[in-house]
Amino acid sequence: MVSTHPVGVQPSGNQYLPQKRSNTTLSPNQELLPLSARVNRHDSLEIGGCDVTTLVQQFGSPLYILDEETLRTACQQYRDTFKQYYKGESQVLYASKAWNCLAVCAIVASEGLGIDVVSGGELYTALKAGVSPDKIYLHGNNKSRDELVLAIESGCTIVADNWHELHTLVELATNSSAVRLMLRLTPGIECHTHEYIRTGHLDSKFGFDPNDLDQVFAFVSKQPGLNCVGLHAHIGSQIFERQPHRDLGVVMVQWLRDAAKYDLELTELNIGGGLGIRYTESDDPPSIEEWSKAICEVVQQACAAENLPLPKLLCEPGRSLIATACVTAYTIGSAKVIPDIRTYVTIDGGMSDNPRPITYQSVYRAVVANKMSDSVTETVTLAGKHCESGDILIKNAQLAKTEPGDILVVMGTGAYNYSMASNYNRLPRPAAVLVANGEANLILQRETYQDIIRQDCLPERLK
Ligand code: LLP
Repeated sequence: MVSTHPVGVQPSGNQYLPQKRSNTTLSPNQELLPLSARVNRHDSLEIGGCDVTTLVQQFGSPLYILDEETLRTACQQYRDTFKQYYKGESQVLYASKAWNCLAVCAIVASEGLGIDVVSGGELYTALKAGVSPDKIYLHGNNKSRDELVLAIESGCTIVADNWHELHTLVELATNSSAVRLMLRLTPGIECHTHEYIRTGHLDSKFGFDPNDLDQVFAFVSKQPGLNCVGLHAHIGSQIFERQPHRDLGVVMVQWLRDAAKYDLELTELNIGGGLGIRYTESDDPPSIEEWSKAICEVVQQACAAENLPLPKLLCEPGRSLIATACVTAYTIGSAKVIPDIRTYVTIDGGMSDNPRPITYQSVYRAVVANKMSDSVTETVTLAGKHCESGDILIKNAQLAKTEPGDILVVMGTGAYNYSMASNYNRLPRPAAVLVANGEANLILQRETYQDIIRQDCLPERLK
């Protein structure tokens, strides 16, 4: 059974070890699907051994479907490559802002990864999932006092972002043991990605300005309440080049050298995340292995050049760990044909479950899960159901002929979809299921209308 989906630009290789795919019935577009994806004898898409159409019948629509095998494989690739190429100690953290929930935290932790959290809510979730506090790092450019207290009391490492925070930590540290922290610095490195997801350039709201470096080191070195263990930087997200991260490695090792002047013994270096993924056939990011190897090599070379001992090397990818592991299944509804202009085909979700197209003009690919071998005959614009003209999921999607009731699967939705989802227009957030070996487990319940009004209060006088 050979699919007739369009080939488009041939991908240069699957980021997730193509040899691990057990079936050959997927066309290159479909190669953007999770590792365990295959087409079954009913011509239907299966993920983790579960028929997607059946999953939708069972758990409702829209539905996030998370493939455990793909997520675990990506965790193992990061972890093992760092072990293989870095001669010192290493620790991969999962940037859980990509998708933070109990099950995801538990899976990545079970693969030996630590977790990067950016709020009290993410921290609370990671702790509840059983992640060991010594593997949790709290980020944020405006952490509240409560968030800092929670992090200190639970024994996490705090990645200090600015002077205000350092002063607050000094205050909070007085009655407890020294606060374990790292310093986030802005490296002044530009990279080619959407301006909203660039963070390493000097005009960024995150981190200390490198011009303040001496002052920051001098201050921290004199505070007995602060146990500064290392440095952190993150230059942006969905990056396809390796050079910016190589440059970052060199700059960060020079910072380590500078810290020594202040008698600060910094033993950890966190290079951030940012590796891009393939959302379309023409995206060509380095593989996890290529990216990780480049980082390990550059840090080792830079340390040798500066005659410094190797620090414990950390990185914190989010998107490249989880994006490809998940698809979103929707049910197709109405269509509007505007002759000579466009055909809109509507799905039962949209910008509330995937705000990335409207926020960053992100491009996704989709397949019709119950017609995997049908020829592609339609170019349609997939519209969401929100009261917003810009709520377009995919412009000019090339699909098999669709009818109401068909199941549309959008690929690569594991990162920054659920985590950025909203209740816009009071749509309940979708459920999420974890699939593996023919079993599907609910990991996020579908919200109900009761959930929608749960926090509403109707003052007595309005009743
Ligand atoms: N570390 C820090 C400090 C970060 O700010 C981020 C992402 C990461 C790590 C993980 O980066 P990744 O490996 O996922 O590229 N909502 C946007 C992405 C925002 C990224 C925010 N920070 C999107 O949907 O594209």
